[in-house]
Amino acid sequence: MKGIVLAGGTGSRLFPLTKVTNKHLLPVGRVPMIFHPIAKLIESGIEEILVVTGTEHMGDVVALLGSGREIGCKLTYKVQDEAGGIAQALSLAENFCHGDPCCVILGDNIFEDSLAEEVKAYAEQGDGARILLKEVSDPHRFGVAQIDGDRVISIEEKPKKPKSHLAVSGIYFFDFDVFDIIRTLRPSARGELEISDVNNEYIRLGKLSHGSLGGWWTDAGTFESLTQAQDLVGEEQGRLF
Ligand code: DAU
Repeated sequence: MKGIVLAGGTGSRLFPLTKVTNKHLLPVGRVPMIFHPIAKLIESGIEEILVVTGTEHMGDVVALLGSGREIGCKLTYKVQDEAGGIAQALSLAENFCHGDPCCVILGDNIFEDSLAEEVKAYAEQGDGARILLKEVSDPHRFGVAQIDGDRVISIEEKPKKPKSHLAVSGIYFFDFDVFDIIRTLRPSARGELEISDVNNEYIRLGKLSHGSLGGWWTDAGTFESLTQAQDLVGEEQGRLF
């Protein structure tokens, strides 16, 4: 399985912290934010990792991470010319995946759980997609899963009236069909190719499973959530690599 960390986007909600640098280079614990999702992939046994980021800060991202040799992985990079959405960023990974399934982590997702069991669960599933859910108090900020019994029956992106408190975390498993699905997408009202539309297509095909995150989880894309990520990571967990 290949690993993909999506670290493009504008980081506009963290301006001016992101005026001259990329959101994923801001500190969380003792390391830049992007080290956290990369460390989760490596820890779960995924060592071939693609990092997608924008044109402005690709140089800094490469200067930080290099070939990955120092942190125990093999890194490849792809440039996303414009912030066209998470699914658009993922579409750039098609050649890298080369027929293989992938584990995708949004670069601003910081969490406690190991992904090792989830990697195993997805490998047993064999194809389709798998998402990880987390109960939150502010679901309107996220993709929100509607559940019927043990099945996810729909995902709504940032709904005004969420149908549950289950946020879809930015950790996804996809088979190679994801690239065909992305080709069928149209931009949303905010002008982006949405990852929730990808997941809804897997629901329609009857091929979306889900797990849940037992430990803490946060994004780090707003001032409040970045501060929360700093607090949750703490001193010890911040000492990666
Ligand atoms: O954090 C989980 C949430 O992430 C999910 O619940 C939502 O369904 C999903 O749409 C996403 O919501 P956000 O609005 O928080 O996504 P954001 O635009 O902040 O982007 C999250 C990361 O994705 C960002 O840190 C880098 C990457 N990204 C984003 C965009 C828009 C890219 O690489 N390229 C992009 O064009």
